[in-house]
Amino acid sequence: MADSTAGVPTRSLNDGAALPAIGFGTYPLRGPDGVEAIRSAIEVGYRLLDTAVNYDNEPEVGEAIRASGIDRDDVLVASKIPGRHHGYDDAVASVEGSLRRLGLEHLDLALIHWPNPSQDLYGEAWRALVEVRERGLVRSIGVSNFTEAHLERIIAESGVTPVVNQVELHPHFPQAELRAAHDRLGIVTESWSPLGKRRAPFTEPAVAEAAAAHAVEPGQVILRWQVQLGAVPIPKSADPARQRANLDVFGFTLTDAEMAAITTLGRRDGRLFGGDPDTHEEM
Ligand SMILES: NC(=O)c1ccc[n+]([C@@H]2O[C@H](COP(=O)([O-])OP(=O)(O)OC[C@H]3O[C@@H](n4cnc5c(N)ncnc54)[C@H](OP(=O)(O)O)[C@@H]3O)[C@@H](O)[C@H]2O)c1
Repeated sequence: MADSTAGVPTRSLNDGAALPAIGFGTYPLRGPDGVEAIRSAIEVGYRLLDTAVNYDNEPEVGEAIRASGIDRDDVLVASKIPGRHHGYDDAVASVEGSLRRLGLEHLDLALIHWPNPSQDLYGEAWRALVEVRERGLVRSIGVSNFTEAHLERIIAESGVTPVVNQVELHPHFPQAELRAAHDRLGIVTESWSPLGKRRAPFTEPAVAEAAAAHAVEPGQVILRWQVQLGAVPIPKSADPARQRANLDVFGFTLTDAEMAAITTLGRRDGRLFGGDPDTHEEM
């Protein structure tokens, strides 16, 4: 990992671009409070903002960027096209709509939100993302909630490998097999619900003991675990103090034993987590 300007390391992508090692999740931040929370995240030092058409908050993300006073080129903005926009023309229009709502000239990252296999149009949506990248509307393109089979299919059909696959990943659901597939294909893993959301395992001994050993918070241990796995977590917090803590995980290193103990939580509870992308669809 190299160092970014905001002091957060970066991860290289297979198209020559890079992402900060931790980004900021914006769902479900909306309205004036949402703008303020996102503006605060930028002030705290986040340089990757994750939104989606379905989060219904692209205007708030754009407003927060302008309110922060940050240079547009110093923050990366990612959005996602929904399942109902997978047809080729709809997917192109979807990205154009995101840019309009954000008030931006380009997206840094555009993702297909879910593969929605029953529609079987995600290959078309992928061709559309390749096209909008060629037109300069988007710098990098990737996917979300894709299985290894979905990834292999779009790569074989288009010759273009997604830069990231954003998937559910937390200590209860460490996604070892999919991470190995990403490594083989040259895809960076992005982690959604990186803390585990409402079921975050803050009091699990594997997490609590590592927090005590390094004199940090349990949430910082989990995000450090994400970084050492090689994933890019995108934690959401509306609270400036938690936003700051979630980004402040580059001053300590978990031991191999601490890493393994946290990953083992997934072996116990993993079957309780993780929607199956072959059946779970979002419109
Ligand atoms: N691609 C997809 O299909 C998909 C699906 C789901 C989510 N996402 C993305 O992933 C992002 C993050 O996922 P998520 O919001 O589901 O889960 P998360 O980031 O794991 O958890 C967020 C929850 O944890 C709390 N929290 C944050 N930091 C904390 C800390 N240090 N200590 C204690 N509690 C803390 C937050 O509350 P406070 O706000 O009160 O701090 C919030 O309730 C979303 O915002 C979205 O951008 C993508």
